[in-house]
Amino acid sequence: MDSIIVRGGTPLHGQIRIAGAKNAALTLMPATLLTEEPLTLTNVPRLSDIRTMSQLLQSLGTEVASMQGGQVITLSSYNLASTTADYEIVRKMRASNLVLGPLLAREGYATVSLPGGCAIGARPMDIHITGLEALGAEIELRDGYLHAKTKGGLKGAVVELRFASVGATENIVMAATLAKGTTVLKNAAREPEIVDLVKCLRAMGAEIEGEGTSTITIEGVDRLHGATHQVVTDRIELGTYMIAPVIAGGEVELIGGRIDLLQSFCEKLDEAGVSITETPAGLKVARKNGRIRAVNVKTEVFPGFPTDLQAQMMALMCTAAGESHLEETIFENRFMHAPELMRMGAQIDVHGGVATVKGVERLRGAPVMATDLRASVSLILAGLAAEGETRVARVYHLDRGYEHVEEKLSAVGASIERMKGE
Ligand code: UD1
Repeated sequence: MDSIIVRGGTPLHGQIRIAGAKNAALTLMPATLLTEEPLTLTNVPRLSDIRTMSQLLQSLGTEVASMQGGQVITLSSYNLASTTADYEIVRKMRASNLVLGPLLAREGYATVSLPGGCAIGARPMDIHITGLEALGAEIELRDGYLHAKTKGGLKGAVVELRFASVGATENIVMAATLAKGTTVLKNAAREPEIVDLVKCLRAMGAEIEGEGTSTITIEGVDRLHGATHQVVTDRIELGTYMIAPVIAGGEVELIGGRIDLLQSFCEKLDEAGVSITETPAGLKVARKNGRIRAVNVKTEVFPGFPTDLQAQMMALMCTAAGESHLEETIFENRFMHAPELMRMGAQIDVHGGVATVKGVERLRGAPVMATDLRASVSLILAGLAAEGETRVARVYHLDRGYEHVEEKLSAVGASIERMKGE
């Protein structure tokens, strides 16, 4: 298995181009199942999760053509060969469950293995199931698989989610595009990736209103057609690389960066003493004078502070002046990076859903282990600030969500390299 070696202490200067959003691409790709015509996506990030989704779609009969080194993909699902999402693929990535809604809408059947993905909590599927059942699906759990079918097709309904789940919103919106009649989805998730999905579905002929608010209305249509759509900027990759020059020193311009994608995160950085300037190409980020100040953070659904940036913020707080409290409300087991950061000299105390971090003057490099996607990048950020060498093992987690991390960071002056393992 590969590892990444970081030698800390070098200030960062230059530009980093932010890729298209992994989480948007992973919901846009299954939208191909809703139409017989080709769907072309541009600005696709080159990540192992994208390859996993391609494999899953290919196993269902989708043809996947990749261009420009994978940044443009055309998906054609004119003839589906299967309606089963197999455990061997689904276990690698929870987002595989996003084929459920589209398959059900198009074929009237879907068999989808219960997902795997990052080990950051129970992550059940009850909200997806209840929502699709409200549209007339019959869903049973047998042998680790959800078996879903409809009698006479899906029908529009008023659906209120018990929690604004991102994945459930995406599955239900996709399913409702081909249902008979109107679906009103209440307490829908408002994340930018959902807005991006709706834009794409609209380009495919869907009739949808209210994306980005908590009520989305979908008027079912008989068929959708092909389209070309550009994937929105990855706000989590953006937030991660915004922290890099703050923790390491220096100034970096994030090409494609937008504050509106990360309002609450930018407010917290500002409170901590970070300068963020809008430029024609994106955002310029640097530490203001002096040491970063401790700030308290509570993760929330959009537009609140994103759970996917909690680990990176914790890395930053490890070297801040003062004590900070980081409260995780979205996933119940998302502090696995804390013991690893403590191996680097961080002072962290986790009690239930709250981590208390006492900032230290300096972290020290150490061998550490990546436990999930965002945890792994927090260790790299900590390594940029640490004295000496940090070796991050199990970086396959990182490759699921960060495109060429060592190239992007070494281009701005970081001392970082990948060691190939067996
Ligand atoms: C998506 C993102 C993930 C991000 C998360 C929250 C993708 C591919 N992944 O994941 O990076 O961390 O949003 O912003 O877009 N839940 C239930 N029942 C359900 C569904 C969810 O209890 O049926 C719970 C989960 O266990 C979790 C919480 O709701 O505690 C949030 O999950 P959800 O919003 O569905 O996240 P994902 O779509 O899985």
